[in-house]
Formats: sequence, C-alpha cells, structure tokens
Amino acid sequence: MQTVVIQGPSTLKGQINISGSKNASLPIMISTLLSKGNCFINNIPNLRDTRFLASILKDLGCRVDFQKNTFVVKSSAIKKKSADYEYVRQMRASIVILGPAISRYKKFKIALPGGCSIGTRGIDLHLDALTKMGIKILIKNGYVIAERKKDKLNSINHKFPKISVGATQNILMAATLADGISKLKNCAIEPEVIDLINFLNTCGANIKVKNRTITIKGAEELNLEDYKVISDRIEAGSYILATMATKGRLRLNNFNPDDLTFPLKIYQDMGLKIKKISKSSYEFYCKKLKPIKKISTKEFPGYPTDLQAQLIATQLKSAIKSRVIENIFENRFIHIPELRRFGANLSIIGKTVTIHKTLNLFGAEVMATDIRASFSLIIAAMMSKGTTVINRIYHLDRGYEDFDLKLKKCGVNIFRKK
Ligand code: EPZ
Repeated sequence: MQTVVIQGPSTLKGQINISGSKNASLPIMISTLLSKGNCFINNIPNLRDTRFLASILKDLGCRVDFQKNTFVVKSSAIKKKSADYEYVRQMRASIVILGPAISRYKKFKIALPGGCSIGTRGIDLHLDALTKMGIKILIKNGYVIAERKKDKLNSINHKFPKISVGATQNILMAATLADGISKLKNCAIEPEVIDLINFLNTCGANIKVKNRTITIKGAEELNLEDYKVISDRIEAGSYILATMATKGRLRLNNFNPDDLTFPLKIYQDMGLKIKKISKSSYEFYCKKLKPIKKISTKEFPGYPTDLQAQLIATQLKSAIKSRVIENIFENRFIHIPELRRFGANLSIIGKTVTIHKTLNLFGAEVMATDIRASFSLIIAAMMSKGTTVINRIYHLDRGYEDFDLKLKKCGVNIFRKK
C-alpha cells in the first residue's frame, strides 16, 4: 500500500497550476451518455476517479479514451445496460449514470452505491424524482433496476426536499431529453453543477438557472461538442489553507476566485493577503494567522464541506476555542483522531469540533480516510516537527492531481514510498 512521507516543518513557497475540477469532470463525462457523436472534453484532471470513470464507461460499451488531461468520446452508445457493483462501490458518484442512461435507454441497472466513511450517502432524492418522471424503480439484490415504458421521460415540477449536488445533476440530465418543460426547485448550485449545465447547453440543451430553480426544456436530441472543464476550487482552497498554515507565499495559476468567494472572505479575516497577478493568477500569503470563532459548512455559496477538514488543520496552532460545525455529512470528522496523533487538541460534540491552540505539533504515522481528510493530514504534517507517514494515500490520488510533485516544487520535503 502506497504511503507518502513528509519531513516537517515546511513552508509553501512557489507556484502551483490548479487542475481541472474533479467534481465538474465526473458528471460532464457521464453526461456524454445523453448524446450521439464525439467530442473532446479538456482540462480533465488525471486522477484515480476520472480514470476509473472512464473504465466504467468503457465497461458499458462506450468508445472513450483518456489522453493526459483530455477525455475523448468516440461513441457514447452503451451496449451493456448495467453498472456493476465492483465499479459503483468504489466511486459513489457513478450513481449519476442512472439519469442519463435511463433517459436514453428503456432499461438500466446500477448497483446501490452504499455508504462511505463520511456518511450513509443515500440516493432517495435521486430515486424519488426519477419515479415521478415515469420510471419504474425496483431495488433487488443490491441493485437499482430502472425501467420505462414510454418513449420519453415525463417532464416534472419537483422541489427537492433537501439540497443535493448529485441528485440535482442526475435529474437535470434526465430532464434534458424529457417530454416538455421540467422545473426543479431547491437545487444545488455549486460551480460544478453550473459547469455541467453549461456543457449540456453547449450540446444543444435548453437549461436555465434562477436562484435555486433550474428549468429544463426537453430537447429532441443533443449533439456532443468540445468543452473545457472549470478549474478545481477545492484543490485551490486546499493549497491556500496550506499556505496560511505554514505562513508561506504561493501563486496559483488557472484559478477562479469567484468559485470561492465566501471562503476567501473568511481566510482574509484570518489574515490571508491576496494579490491579483492576472485574470487567472493570484498570489496568496499570510504573515500572521488570526483565530476565527465559528464556521459552519453549508451548501454553495456557503462554506464548503469539502474544505472543512483542511480548515481545522490550518487552525491547530492559532485557534482560540474555534468551532467548526459540519452540517452536510453526518460523519465527516474521521480526520479528528488522526489529527490528534500530531498532538492536536480537538474536542467533538455532535456536529461541532472545537479547536484548542497547540503550540507544538510533532510528525506521526497516520491514516488517510477520505479525499479531503487526507489533505488535512498533509497540512498538519507541514506544521509539525519531524517525520510524518501518511498511509492509504490512494484517497489523495482520487482528488489531488500530482499533489506530491506540486508540493515538492514549492519546497515541501515529501516523497512517495511503496
Ligand atoms: C458531492 O457529493 C461531491 N462529490 C462531494 O465531494 C461533496 O462533498 C458533496 O457533493 C457536497 O457538496 C461529487 O461531486 C463527486 P450531496 P454528493 O448529494 O452529490 C444527503 C469530494 O471530496 N443525501 O450534495 O454525493 C447526503 O448523504 C466529495 O470531492 C441524501 O440524504 O453530495 C449528504 O448528507 C466528497 N439523499 C447530503 O445529502 C440523497 O439522495 C449532501 O449530499 C442524496 C444526498
């Protein structure tokens, strides 16, 4: 099992090119199932998850290819109408295959994704809306078996009882070929959802967004067009927090600050300084880190749950009873016991972590547990004296393209070990 070794303390100094967004790439790659034709999707990060999704689509019969950071679609026709458990259990996001697949083919089967370390990750919001679109859903032997009789899905007026990124993406994709106009309310409006909508409209869909309402006018068919995916705001936020934690100076290229408006305001309250170099290049530095009393994770445009673990790590030496409240996932504190191994002083009550200042942190052997938690361990390792070994770094490889090379280029003593 691969590990990564970091000699701390270290300061982040230099520049990093932000990769394409993993969470925009996955639904956009999947949405190619909706249309005929071929296309190049550019700026796709070369990650374990994007490569894995390409293999799922190949297993379904699509003729797709990955060339460095370009996903090449030669044909998105599927022959095998089933996404198997061996695939789906390794990447929950594949449940978003169901919407496009069942709107193009009359029958499709997909394994129930199951939970993961951060929560139960239900799919009730997806299935309830698909049922309203005229799909018969049967759950049997750990699979969702979806079937429709009519030539087209029904368009629907639907209000999601809870905001869900995946359910919004699944249903809006299903609605692009439905019969008539669908109106979806209480939708997720993360930049990754908007990027999917922009790609679908480029391919001939008719989708409009107003606040949390998405209106989709069903099209006869879509035709694939080339597209460039947005850059990864969570990767960028992770490196910005690492810069703050180590009082470094970092220039980020291919970065769009509009995707991180609220977090950047919080970080500036904590002492971050930002200098604009060009439209997509910004320099970040922080001389003195100030404590922040309380942060709650919320759906976009609020503070992202995907930057919660990294924010906790950044505050380990500067907090004064700082509280971080996790409102999106029910079990997204698995990094806390690992951070304690560095000597961090953290307490958990319900959904709230309280951070008490710890002046000295020391390197330790720790375990990566999910993509974002793993990056919080990197930040803690850079703040600590001595050697840190991070096990199960496939979690990092799922979400951070070339993270070790990018950090090494910025002065961090980091290397992979088999
Ligand atoms: C997406 O997951 C992201 N993944 C997650 O990023 C991100 O943390 C999450 O959105 C929230 O922003 C991808 O885009 C691939 P949700 P998703 O549906 O769509 C509950 C990362 O590290 N829920 O918005 O699965 C769910 O359990 C990953 O890149 C239901 O109860 O998230 C959660 O508590 C981690 N029933 C909440 O809603 C449902 O049918 C939000 O989940 C669907 C969701």
